Amino acid sequence: MALAIMCSGGDAPGMNPAIKKFVDYAFKRGQKHYFIHHGLEGMIDGEITEASHSDVAGILHRGGAIIRSSRSKRFFEYEYRKQAFENLKKYDITGLVVLGGDGSFRAMQRFSEEFPLNFVGIPTTIDNDIYGTDYCLGVDTALNVIRDALDKIRDTASTFDRAFVVEVMGRECGYLAVVSALASGAEICIIPEADFNIKVAEKQLLEEVAGGRGYILAVVAEGTGKTAEIAEWLESTIGLETRVSILGHIQRGGNPTVTDRLMAFEFVIHAIDHLLHSRDANKVVYYRDGAYGLMEIDDVVSHTYTIDSELLSAINLID
Ligand code: F6P
Repeated sequence: MALAIMCSGGDAPGMNPAIKKFVDYAFKRGQKHYFIHHGLEGMIDGEITEASHSDVAGILHRGGAIIRSSRSKRFFEYEYRKQAFENLKKYDITGLVVLGGDGSFRAMQRFSEEFPLNFVGIPTTIDNDIYGTDYCLGVDTALNVIRDALDKIRDTASTFDRAFVVEVMGRECGYLAVVSALASGAEICIIPEADFNIKVAEKQLLEEVAGGRGYILAVVAEGTGKTAEIAEWLESTIGLETRVSILGHIQRGGNPTVTDRLMAFEFVIHAIDHLLHSRDANKVVYYRDGAYGLMEIDDVVSHTYTIDSELLSAINLID
């Protein structure tokens, strides 16, 4: 029996510390351990190598993932999943640690139903949108990137008396937008999960601008598709010269924060311990209410993540 680690889907800071811990901890537990390169695509193509300490020297502080990642269309087809399993068999890999998001976990659920394989997923996405866990690897680093960008944008916005619409990542989830808007004191936060009362905002902002407010920061989650609309409204109705800043993929890069490094270590230790001690695998590690645990993959993929209601009510930005 051997263990392997793979990254799948969007990369997130924290993957490299997780990869390093995987090698160190699997070695400590006397397990043969492998890398699967390029995620599900690499599993199909047999990109599997034995992992060594020298592979992971000096990677702890780096963003990205030294073993690469991918989004795989081929894995939707049974023939390719079968080919992937044959590749794992060649190396006697029976336990797999998968760093990824819910799309990757859905793929792994199907894979593990078809073939005798145990996997443990580690929630890894800057979007923080995986059901059942309070935290996904990469979120803290991404939030700090956004916070840094918003702090800088505030400097120029205030100097020029402008409104700024800053679009942040999160696909269909507004978590990054909510937390960064709160942390940065943005006046407006637009997310898919909550209605934005434009009439109330309009009345208040017009009064504030008339009373001397010079600039406005609006954080918009990409999933709303409302970036251009909000910019147009700020310019034409609120009356401030407006600029748009789409932060894009810089949010997925950068050196992992202390939180992401420590979370990576714990997630990996829990994943490996579970693979070694339990035959009842095919789970996802969670961090909830300050504790780690394992949840059923079926639960994870059949539910939708919802932002904590207290956090949502805290973005009462127009009051
Ligand atoms: O990994 C999550 C994410 O960064 C989302 O926030 C974003 O919508 C998407 O990935 C972008 O994907 P890609 O890098 O494939 O363009």
